[in-house]
Amino acid sequence: CGIVACILKDKDAAPVLLSCVKRLEYRGYDSVGIATSSKNIEIKKDEGKIDDVQKRLELTDLPGKMGIAHVRWATHGLPTKENAHPHTDCKKRIAVVHNGIIENYRELKDQLIREGHEFRSETDTEVIPHLIEKYMATGSDLEEATRLTTHDIKGSYAIAVISADEPDKIIGVRKESPLIVGKGEDEYFLASDAPAILKHTNRIIYLNDNEMVLLTGEGITVKDVDGNPIEKEIDLIDWTPDMAEKGGYDHFMLKEIHEQPDAVKKTLMELQDIKEMVENFPKFNRICFVACGTSYHASLVGKYLFEGLVGIPTDVLLASEFEFSAGALDEKTLAIFISQSGETADTLRALRMANETAQTLAIVNVLGSTATREADHVIYTRAGPEIGVAATKTYVSQLTCICLLALSMAGEEKLLEDIQHVPDHMKLALEAEDQIREIAKKYKDAEDFFFIGRGYSYPTAMEGALKLKEITYIHGEGYAAGELKHGPLALIDDDVPVVAVVPPGDSHDKTLGNLQEVKARGASVIALGSSDDEVLKSEAHEMIEFSGELNEVLSPIVYVVPLQLLSYHMSVERGIDPDKPKNLAKCVTVE
Ligand code: G6P
Repeated sequence: CGIVACILKDKDAAPVLLSCVKRLEYRGYDSVGIATSSKNIEIKKDEGKIDDVQKRLELTDLPGKMGIAHVRWATHGLPTKENAHPHTDCKKRIAVVHNGIIENYRELKDQLIREGHEFRSETDTEVIPHLIEKYMATGSDLEEATRLTTHDIKGSYAIAVISADEPDKIIGVRKESPLIVGKGEDEYFLASDAPAILKHTNRIIYLNDNEMVLLTGEGITVKDVDGNPIEKEIDLIDWTPDMAEKGGYDHFMLKEIHEQPDAVKKTLMELQDIKEMVENFPKFNRICFVACGTSYHASLVGKYLFEGLVGIPTDVLLASEFEFSAGALDEKTLAIFISQSGETADTLRALRMANETAQTLAIVNVLGSTATREADHVIYTRAGPEIGVAATKTYVSQLTCICLLALSMAGEEKLLEDIQHVPDHMKLALEAEDQIREIAKKYKDAEDFFFIGRGYSYPTAMEGALKLKEITYIHGEGYAAGELKHGPLALIDDDVPVVAVVPPGDSHDKTLGNLQEVKARGASVIALGSSDDEVLKSEAHEMIEFSGELNEVLSPIVYVVPLQLLSYHMSVERGIDPDKPKNLAKCVTVE
């Protein structure tokens, strides 16, 4: 979910809130709502994507210079109008938007119902306005009542609260869900992330857990949840508002795919800092990567690099499995957390556990995000804001960072030179877009796909399959090419296209053999390989060619590009919005 709040000087809040919350739509798009406050709280909300709800309800047509807004990714309760935020107390004098989960909401709700409160939704959030109402009824002001409420609720939350009884205030609190404060010219903002409010200000205060902020027309006050004042610094961020625009492309995802050579170039500029960090590292005897989704696939490439080139045993764990499978970590373990957002709840939980014993390093794209403030070491991927829900440019930047780190630790100077040419290889790969669009048209109605690769190309195959699932809703499986014969080969027939990632290098000949196995079962083969590879060309039904020499170790950064384009064009051909696939959100701040 995403939240925004603002107090403006001399214009209506609702249109500003809508434009800001639109930039958070990647965090959820099940429903949307805005509340503004003048004499009364006025609310408009409904299920559906922002543009559709705006057409139906004219969300922007609400009075008042201050308000709160929300986009929802449903956790508790279906995406319905009643469950959409903002939520209110019984008398509709208090309105709240919330991102996170209130774990003890059932007990709190039962208690409040016994005390006479009436609930309108199935959400966990609704207990918050009722608790604030209860405390205000016994004499607390809004700030005190919100503070007391945070003592009652357990779980994760970023909340913004307004009340018609104190119409000059917005209160925000964060615990384990992101919330930042923006300071404009006599205008003040709260948001789940900085790009949401970048159009209005680039002066940002990052809140920590258990900090509470009070916004009024006069300024910003930050306290802890016990009421003690806290001095905060204002950071200037150098992302520009146009970085969060489509810039002539049909979708953010396509723009972000095309930005990849530049994103990698920016990441490569981190090399010096990474080398210095590595020089100060103690000797590690274990590396443990932890991540989710696409970031997990980047981590898998890390295993091949660290074990193959640096010679350190390396595990790769899904963040949600970390607590069950990490085993003992110690100060000789480097635990590397890969996260585009730096806010994924599963990853943060694992990071907090690892911080107790291991050295932790976060590789993150979003500046100032929680992971960057909690890990011992940080590397920024510098890909710029990524809006499309399916990760693309942040993935290649993560891969680049991991390569820089491993190659620096291994002292692989030749590969560190070669990696400087990777952006050029990516530009060439992008030139295959017209061909890929045609392939997408041809195969868009397939119901199942396999993606196969070995070694460095195995994670690429997995990422290709994930992209396909995410944005085309076609079933795709990424498999180690050599493992197909141990089961999945039974599923291969002439209805199942197989995408084979076959760069030149150690894995090449064996993957070629596996490709013949699937061909013999009738599959159509879409192969990715070198333009010099005549054998592969003769075996494949479709061949996506890569020109120029590229070491297999660096091939994951380049070979994923056509796979992203393939899924993108299939998604468009199937009439799906690739920027907002159903049921998904870019940043998942719940476990
Ligand atoms: C969500 C997104 C994925 C992303 C994953 C991890 O599931 O839909 O695209 O890979 O979270 O996100 P992170 O921000 O931690 O990289």
